[in-house]
Amino acid sequence: MIHDTVPHKSVLVDEVIEHLAPQPGKTYLDVTFGAGGHSRAILEAQESCHVIGMDWDTVSLEKYGVPMAEEFGKRLSLAWGNFSLLYRVAKREHIKKVDGILADFGTSQMQITERPGFSFSRDTPLDMRMSPSHQQITAAYIIASASEEELADIFFRYGEERYSRKIARLIVQERKIAPIATTGQLATLVSNAVGSKRGRCHPATRVFQALRIAVNKELENITSFLSEALRVLSPGGRLVCISFHSLEDRLVKQFFKDREREGIVEILTPKVVTASEQEVARNPSSRSACLRAIRLIKAIGE
Ligand SMILES: C[S@@+](CC[C@H](N)C(=O)[O-])C[C@H]1O[C@@H](n2cnc3c(N)ncnc32)[C@H](O)[C@@H]1O
Repeated sequence: MIHDTVPHKSVLVDEVIEHLAPQPGKTYLDVTFGAGGHSRAILEAQESCHVIGMDWDTVSLEKYGVPMAEEFGKRLSLAWGNFSLLYRVAKREHIKKVDGILADFGTSQMQITERPGFSFSRDTPLDMRMSPSHQQITAAYIIASASEEELADIFFRYGEERYSRKIARLIVQERKIAPIATTGQLATLVSNAVGSKRGRCHPATRVFQALRIAVNKELENITSFLSEALRVLSPGGRLVCISFHSLEDRLVKQFFKDREREGIVEILTPKVVTASEQEVARNPSSRSACLRAIRLIKAIGE
């Protein structure tokens, strides 16, 4: 059952359960606990399994994890950590091999609506750190200190922004006059650079996505996570990943294909799994969700 009081609507819940296929007495690691919707679904789908809910955002773990751990008792434990260092986190937490791992990449709805810098619909400081207690570099720092070429590269690579050079040039001109420190300032500057018409999207959507990816090192973290995950899985264990944009999905798809070619894993999703029309109608942010899953065939060394 998904709780209505939780501000994040979990995506592809039935599909996660189908592909993770939780079994009695087994242990599942949810490395992106968020508001706990997927962890809850796993615990409810298999009444004698154990779930470890992990996130690098201490606020999510405290606000949603602690009450859920009280509700589920010993069946749910919580762990703080960056999934890019999963193997090290697992050692620190005395987690032995697990039977399934779920990763639902990106940001939670709470982070977008409650934290500074993620959204251009509120004028807040340009921060964008998902785990502020252990990250130092903010979006404002990147905007203030990266060279024009570095900024253009971030907007082009992570946002696939056509006007990356023009926007970077304007930022560098503008910051000589006054610091660009808020979401409102940046959104206005980008709108001036690219014009206000861009289909249904705000003109600054791509630049904001690019900065968020850069601040949180999202693609580097996923690349490292994928290798680490196989070291933490038991043979026969499953890894289920949900991506929200093509850059993430490409990394997952290629990693799975390469490991299948090496005979290490079996791909369980020959075609990417996406949300049904009904789910998209209920939860529009599920529109871009892409799920892929594998089963580990060969144990990976300690
Ligand atoms: C899309 S939300 C997950 C929502 C969750 N599945 C649910 O049902 O509520 C993504 C979560 O992953 C976390 N996250 C993102 N990058 C992370 C990383 N490198 N290590 C650990 N957690 C991360 C975020 O803090 C956020 O809480």
